[in-house]
Amino acid sequence: MVNQGNIHPVFEKLVGRAEREAFLHQNSKVIWMTGLSGSGKSTIAQLLERQLLERGFFAQVLDGDNIRTGINNNLGFSLEDRTENIRRIAEVAKLYLHSGIITICTFISPTRAIRNFAKQIIGEADFIEIFVHAPLEVCEARDVKGLYQKARAGKIKDFTGIDSPYEPPFLPDLTLNTEEESLETSTDRLLGFLLPLLAK
Ligand code: ADX
Repeated sequence: MVNQGNIHPVFEKLVGRAEREAFLHQNSKVIWMTGLSGSGKSTIAQLLERQLLERGFFAQVLDGDNIRTGINNNLGFSLEDRTENIRRIAEVAKLYLHSGIITICTFISPTRAIRNFAKQIIGEADFIEIFVHAPLEVCEARDVKGLYQKARAGKIKDFTGIDSPYEPPFLPDLTLNTEEESLETSTDRLLGFLLPLLAK
């Protein structure tokens, strides 16, 4: 009780999200890309990040390379670990969001419950769900990292789409079909959808 009077004035001195967004001339959002391994999430995210920067937006991709090798390097692929993976990512994305940064998350985030969890942490108004869709056969044929072959051979367990579930979103904000269109075309479509939401 004694300290209460001191907390409020300090809080008021902190630079808030709105001020940071105004500084960056953008509305910050979390762009949450979900889809199977090999569906094209990371490539589209990288192209999108570049396109946004070229247009004067400040954006950052969070993906397996900078998350699963760092803050989440103690997590595997059980449903429990995936849930913890996504919980931490959502908390980090929320910090970025409140720093005014457009944050692009590319994680399989395989179940509706897991994605809903992320949405609750981030806040519904700031969570934009993008379904990067390609049929399992197509992702498996691409097998960019050779992991599907290993999963089929039983060398990797709990692999999404093989012996671990993937539930497509019921009502994503946008679906990109990377079997039917090139990754560049998908990125252009995504950019066209996002620009009105991000521009101040
Ligand atoms: S999530 O399910 O927890 O959201 P995340 O996107 O972080 O997964 O990691 C997926 C990436 O990890 C895949 O693209 C693949 O390269 C690699 N990986 C390794 N083991 C697995 C597995 N059992 N299931 C899915 N992806 C795996």
